[in-house]
Amino acid sequence: MSLKEKTKRYLNKKCKNSIEGKTIVITGATSGIGLKAAEELLYLGANLILAARNKEKAEEIKQRLIEEYKDSTIDIYPLDLASLDSIKKFATRIKRNKVDVYGFVNNAGVFSGKNRTIDGYPLVMGTNYIGTFVLVERLLPYFMSLSHEVKLINTSSISYKSGKMNYNDFFFEKKKKNAFQIYSRSKLCLTKYSIYLANKYMDSNIKTIMTHPGIAKTELLLNMFKPWYMRIFKPVANIFMTPEKASLSIPYALTEDVRCGSLIGPNHLFDGWGYPKINKLAKKAYSEIEQLIVYTKGIVKKDI
Ligand SMILES: NC(=O)c1ccc[n+]([C@@H]2O[C@H](COP(=O)([O-])OP(=O)(O)OC[C@H]3O[C@@H](n4cnc5c(N)ncnc54)[C@H](OP(=O)(O)O)[C@@H]3O)[C@@H](O)[C@H]2O)c1
Repeated sequence: MSLKEKTKRYLNKKCKNSIEGKTIVITGATSGIGLKAAEELLYLGANLILAARNKEKAEEIKQRLIEEYKDSTIDIYPLDLASLDSIKKFATRIKRNKVDVYGFVNNAGVFSGKNRTIDGYPLVMGTNYIGTFVLVERLLPYFMSLSHEVKLINTSSISYKSGKMNYNDFFFEKKKKNAFQIYSRSKLCLTKYSIYLANKYMDSNIKTIMTHPGIAKTELLLNMFKPWYMRIFKPVANIFMTPEKASLSIPYALTEDVRCGSLIGPNHLFDGWGYPKINKLAKKAYSEIEQLIVYTKGIVKKDI
């Protein structure tokens, strides 16, 4: 574990507003970017709730983290974004335990997978978009009941720029597409939903911010090189950012004074590399947002 000295210097210098003693919930902290973000938040003195689907893996990570960050509290709450029942139980637990949420980081995500979620949605759209949508909708009234600001951080991806909407085949069930096109749509939907939230709750205590990690060498990215025609490109992954650098947009979003609806991420080399900054959102992120929200609520209305 342990952060590099360079990362610590960055965090000491850039993270202006203290999060010491504040509670931050983070999904997908058992691997890659989420794991490093968790460590960076602990370094800054936060208490964490790791929302994880794999209890054993999360317990093992908790033990490793707590050895180094002894003054912080780390709890594990089960959450499988591919199960609406699990999402409901998780949200109920947050409310029942009156968790004083300062920041909620929706970081978990998948790149590909042929399976379906427990509720029958194709895995990538079902996890990255539908699961996150239902989770957030279930928690919003609770967040609003808190007497302080709640920072809601949604992890997008530069791939949203390649995403295309098609409500005649929202889940790609009629016409098969490659994994990248499916993943890109899931992140475009999440980006549009985040802008919707930022606008709708602008005058409330909920501050929605988007982050993206650029391109980082994690399990998710390495999955892209699994198809036979991609294997030859796998060595390219070595030039991508480390998860430790790519994750910095998360502490940045939680500690800097950024406007609701901002996108934070690297902005060198086509937004794929570098330290976090405020990025410009592509025009397509702002179009037909209402249509997406009405459509999504139509699908999940009994679950939110
Ligand atoms: N890596 C990149 O270059 C890149 C670029 C743009 C955006 N992103 C985004 O960054 C986020 C983190 O990705 P990563 O690269 O760090 O990938 P990763 O190493 O594969 O980590 C993904 C995390 O999500 C969790 N997860 C997956 N499905 C889940 C589910 N159904 N319920 C709960 N948790 C689930 C995983 O849990 P397990 O440990 O149990 O598998 C893991 O902790 C994702 O949203 C991804 O789309 C990554």
